[in-house]
Amino acid sequence: MAATGHLLFVLVISMSVAAVSAHNITAILDGYPEYSLYNSYLSQTKVCDEINSRSTVTSLVLTNGAMSSLVSNLSLADIKNALRLLTLLDYYDTKKLHSLHDGSELTTTLYQTTGDASGNMGHVNITNLRGGKVGFASAAPGSQFQATYTKSVKQEPYNLSVLEVSDPITFPGLFNSPSAASTNLTALLEKAGCKQFAHLIVSSGVIKVYQAAMDKGLTLFAPTDDAFHAKDLPDLSKLTSVDLEKVLQYHALPQYAPKASLKTIKGNIQTLASTGAGKYDLSVIAKGDDVSIDTGVDKSRVASTVLDDTPTVIHTMDSVLLPPELFGGAPSPALAPAPEGSAPAPSPKAAGKKKKKSKSPSHSPPAPPADTPEMSPVDAPDAEGAADKADVKKKNGATAVATSFAATMASAALFAASFL
Ligand SMILES: *[C@@H]1O[C@H](CO)[C@@H](O)[C@H](O)[C@H]1NC(C)=O
Ligand SMILES: *[C@@H]1O[C@H](CO)[C@@H](O)[C@H](O)[C@H]1NC(C)=O
Ligand SMILES: *[C@@H]1O[C@H](CO)[C@@H](O)[C@H](O)[C@H]1NC(C)=O
Ligand SMILES: *[C@@H]1O[C@H](CO)[C@@H](O)[C@H](O)[C@H]1NC(C)=O
Ligand SMILES: *[C@@H]1O[C@H](CO)[C@@H](O)[C@H](O)[C@H]1NC(C)=O
Repeated sequence: MAATGHLLFVLVISMSVAAVSAHNITAILDGYPEYSLYNSYLSQTKVCDEINSRSTVTSLVLTNGAMSSLVSNLSLADIKNALRLLTLLDYYDTKKLHSLHDGSELTTTLYQTTGDASGNMGHVNITNLRGGKVGFASAAPGSQFQATYTKSVKQEPYNLSVLEVSDPITFPGLFNSPSAASTNLTALLEKAGCKQFAHLIVSSGVIKVYQAAMDKGLTLFAPTDDAFHAKDLPDLSKLTSVDLEKVLQYHALPQYAPKASLKTIKGNIQTLASTGAGKYDLSVIAKGDDVSIDTGVDKSRVASTVLDDTPTVIHTMDSVLLPPELFGGAPSPALAPAPEGSAPAPSPKAAGKKKKKSKSPSHSPPAPPADTPEMSPVDAPDAEGAADKADVKKKNGATAVATSFAATMASAALFAASFL
């Protein structure tokens, strides 16, 4: 009995693993430029993650033409609803569509299981119409079969099927999502125990930066009030107002990333503070259901999700996120210690020289990684930032060594570049 239970357990585990990694709708649609708009919205709304997590699913896709008229004046939340209603939680291929029992069938969609469907509004009625056509309509009474099957795109029997349809499936009320812009961020944050953070974003004016990003997608990592009372937290009141703004912008992503989607992110993610070249980026560590954000200086657990209302999501955090560019172990970015007895630290002069070089029309060799085209005399002290970044993966004890090593590498690169 126990053995059977154990076997069953192992079986269930391996099945769920298979289900999660079985398909990647984004990768499949990448091969079909005619559905690129649809594919892009699957990613923006993260409906792709919901599709990939299902072991049996049929995606009804729209061509770029049909998709562009659908999205023309819809919010991302509305588009998400439309895409969920086009995702059937059963496997349909051409043969099955044309041989429905009694010529009609009701099927469940992602909208029914994950959306805000009331009653059976998240079901879709598939019907064999006259002239061999197959129509799809909302289960809402009086719905028209506007969406008809046009062609088969791709099948992975009996897990994933991609079929093209002529039009979206809609019903009155599908597009009534409240606008994200009406969300009162500060009120929400205060209610969630993030009063200090709410106060900082208002007093610094960074809330306006957040609000401007909200319609396109915004993920906030809001440290709790306890996080601001942590003993080892550097004194944020000592930061210049520009640096404080950077820190606050570092707590937001310019994309919609609910917890389930955060888990799938590999490599660096850009924050609202990112300047390109990897500066002010974050990375994600996911272990089972636990998700943490790694800045390189510290790690912070995603405690809870306060708001998940496409395209805005607010997570509360156990600690304040400290960007290595400002808290990288060196006393201050401006006071970078020159590595002793080695090549001089990059000076504004060297950087200026280097910049001139990179502007020259002649072919230049591939730039070394530390050698960013944006480097200018003003940016020069930031070579230290790059150095801190390089030591991101290292433990605190090794910081000084790693920093000076990376600084040496950076100056060596500049030194070499000035001879080219
Ligand atoms: C199809 O789904 C089942 C679980 O329902 C899974 O075991 C199988 O590996 C999947 N097959 C493919 C080809 O993805
Ligand atoms: C799916 O494929 C896309 C590329 O088309 C890739 O960027 C993405 O990481 C993949 N997703 C998963 C969960 O593997
Ligand atoms: C687009 O906006 C116009 C004007 O606000 C409205 O009349 C129309 O119904 C909207 N179209 C869709 C598809 O929602
Ligand atoms: C689908 O809709 C048609 C037309 O409204 C209706 O006759 C049929 O009974 C519906 N099918 C199911 C399974 O509800
Ligand atoms: C948002 O809520 C705060 C209270 O938490 C309030 O002071 C502020 O006026 C509200 N803003 C708007 C635009 O309603």
